[in-house]
Amino acid sequence: MSYELIQVRTEGGKVGVVTLNRPKQLNALNNELMDELGAALKAFDADPTIGCMVITGSEKAFAAGADIGAMATYSFSDVYKGDYITRNWELIRQVRKPVIAAVSGFALGGGCELAMMCDFIIAADNARFGQPEIKLGIIPGAGGTQRLPRAVGKAKAMDLALTGRMMDATEAERAGLVSRVVALDKLMDETLAAALMICEFSQVAVMAAKESVNRAFEGGLADGIMFERRMFHALFATEDQKEGMDAFVNKRKAVFKNQ
Ligand code: HXC
Repeated sequence: MSYELIQVRTEGGKVGVVTLNRPKQLNALNNELMDELGAALKAFDADPTIGCMVITGSEKAFAAGADIGAMATYSFSDVYKGDYITRNWELIRQVRKPVIAAVSGFALGGGCELAMMCDFIIAADNARFGQPEIKLGIIPGAGGTQRLPRAVGKAKAMDLALTGRMMDATEAERAGLVSRVVALDKLMDETLAAALMICEFSQVAVMAAKESVNRAFEGGLADGIMFERRMFHALFATEDQKEGMDAFVNKRKAVFKNQ
């Protein structure tokens, strides 16, 4: 499939990389781009050679939000009947392999929400995060009011959502929104190294880890612990568990078959 608003490539034959590519609009996220992003991620997810995905943007902008020009004339019935956001943005949450956001520049509004839909965020030192929707007379609509407080706590989430201010990469790391901050010129090297490391592990265990961590945000503690315990038990049925533990006991490198 060919894409117009994203670029798609693989790294090391194992990592699927999607680069958002509307540079003149600071990667503003319109429906066409989100359709392409969903299709690319689903294709990588279905490809057995791919173990991890990366979403990135440009140096200036990961994404400056949903496309305001496109949204400006929408009516309630347009967005409700058209299932705006749910129809294509939510596809990202159906991806079962890990997705890393490599963020440089602006990650605002829907751009911040897209980054938060990924499994973790690696930020360049020039990254700036915010939920400025309040300035447009709306509120975050792709999970920002739910994922941001889970990541940074109520106080900072309220501050960002109600004032519309941006936070820099240092504040975002301190608050727990991003997992690491790296120099801008090292962003892709660091992100690809993390992605390739993930690809070395048992894909079954990696997917179970992702699903289990996500449970922490989707239910109560007791249910989450029970889900994790059952997943943990289930992994003892895999060949990769036998291989991983035998390799450790015999002081050799594990060779996983993703079985
Ligand atoms: C459409 C956008 C855009 C956006 C920037 N552009 N953000 N177009 N939608 N979200 C366009 C500008 O109109 C401009 O086009 C070009 O990109 C460059 O932007 P400038 O403003 O000239 O750049 P700069 O002065 O560097 O300022 C950067 C910026 C600013 C601070 C990021 O562009 C900005 O405030 N953008 C809007 C951020 C925002 O409000 N995001 C939330 C959107 S609502 P031209 O043609 O003039 O060169 C949202 C809803 C989420 O995301 C809910 C559902 C997902």
